[in-house]
Amino acid sequence: MNDGTTAPGCGLKLRAKSETPPQKTSVEPSLTWSKSSWQQHPAKQQPKWPDKERYDEIIRTLSLLPPLVFAGEIRDLKTMLAKAVKGEAFLLQGGDCSEEFSRCTAPNIRETLKVLLQMAVILTYAGNKPVVKVGRIAGQYAKPRSSDTEKVNGIEIPSYRGDMANAAEPILAARIPDPERLLKGYHMSAATMNLLRAFTRGGFSSLHRVQAWNQEFVKQSPMGRSYERMAKQISYALKFMETIGISTDIPQMKEAQFFTSHEALFLGYEEALTREDSITGGWYDCSAHMLWIGDRTRQLDGAHIEFLRGVRNPLGIKVGPNYQLDDILAIIERLNPENEPGRITLITRFGAKAIDKLLPPLLRAVKNSGFHVLWTCDPMHANTYSAGSGHKTRDFENILSELRCFFELNWVAGTIPGGVHFELTGDDVTECIGGARELSDAQLGLRYLTTCDPRLNAEQSLEMAFQIAEMIRT
Ligand code: PEP
Ligand code: CO
Repeated sequence: MNDGTTAPGCGLKLRAKSETPPQKTSVEPSLTWSKSSWQQHPAKQQPKWPDKERYDEIIRTLSLLPPLVFAGEIRDLKTMLAKAVKGEAFLLQGGDCSEEFSRCTAPNIRETLKVLLQMAVILTYAGNKPVVKVGRIAGQYAKPRSSDTEKVNGIEIPSYRGDMANAAEPILAARIPDPERLLKGYHMSAATMNLLRAFTRGGFSSLHRVQAWNQEFVKQSPMGRSYERMAKQISYALKFMETIGISTDIPQMKEAQFFTSHEALFLGYEEALTREDSITGGWYDCSAHMLWIGDRTRQLDGAHIEFLRGVRNPLGIKVGPNYQLDDILAIIERLNPENEPGRITLITRFGAKAIDKLLPPLLRAVKNSGFHVLWTCDPMHANTYSAGSGHKTRDFENILSELRCFFELNWVAGTIPGGVHFELTGDDVTECIGGARELSDAQLGLRYLTTCDPRLNAEQSLEMAFQIAEMIRT
């Protein structure tokens, strides 16, 4: 609701630091784009592959393997995101911080899909508009790191960069980047994609099953009961439609449209999956429907921007606390010179404490520049801290507080808060503190499974969706 309570730290201090008017970019892109033109630009965050020949061979192999997603699907997603830009749809993006090969199993994939579908139903029901569902899944195997190396027991070893580069185990042998992992990552993504397609087309995602999606452990919780009530109302509505002769045996009821995304990080892999669409002649990165560019790799003259400017997928741009306004405007212009709605999603991640100072100038400058962007909030990445137990965690309250500020600041600025971005899992993990069960610091060790950032568990994710529902209820 637009008049929701003001979150702590979100006093409406809307005059922030100096604002520079949009300027033309000073660094010009290379004249012609090709799927390999990024190689002429500095590429950050790439693993140092020791066996270059084997790496090249694997990239060649990948470039011949079938695409994981198709250009037509990518265009459909862009059309839906363009609706979200206008406030006619809402984006829900979420999944693991970092997928793991060892957790690429049917139950894991099903549970993550299920919690995203449940959240989407809650948000659709409250907001009265379609929810665009995008998983951080089927390819989220590459991670940027703040340091190239880390010290373990006095020995310096390469940092873990995601399962597609090396293994998380903190020993030197496991951390040497291995190009075979790129190929394995492709096959794991294909297997995940296959199951997602089966689940979303084969009846599992049918609205008739909204009640059945309530897992046992969630069912017994306060969130599970709220969900059950809402699911019952949806079932009654479906029964009513059938009673008066309106068929609910139609694809809109029986299937879910579900899209995939990951950070476009390892550019050799992304290039190998980039294909020319025979219908439009455009280039599409067919490793996922949507790709995002991380906060650490979005340099205007860098390889990541050069690569992404030429593929036609919808693109996310992460914007963290150290952003420069001019940079962001220049990046948007470089990636979307035609100002096509649905092409750019800004994913802001400022933290509960800083969002009230950092978001308003960005909202104003982008609005004044006339760029069409989808405003979304990642309330996870700037709210991470080390708990007393030593675990990296996030507090449910801070996550919620950043989200509330995000909605309010958009309403004040006259822009549209069009989506949310979470790190979450369908599993019953104990990685973020707080929520209805008041998970405590001392409980973090019980089921702390992530190899990277802490995720909301299924119950905390549902609770978050109910909280957002209050903000978007119409
Ligand atoms: C991420 O989304 O996992 C991530 C690393 O984000 P950011 O680039 O915003 O730090
Ligand atoms: Co993360």
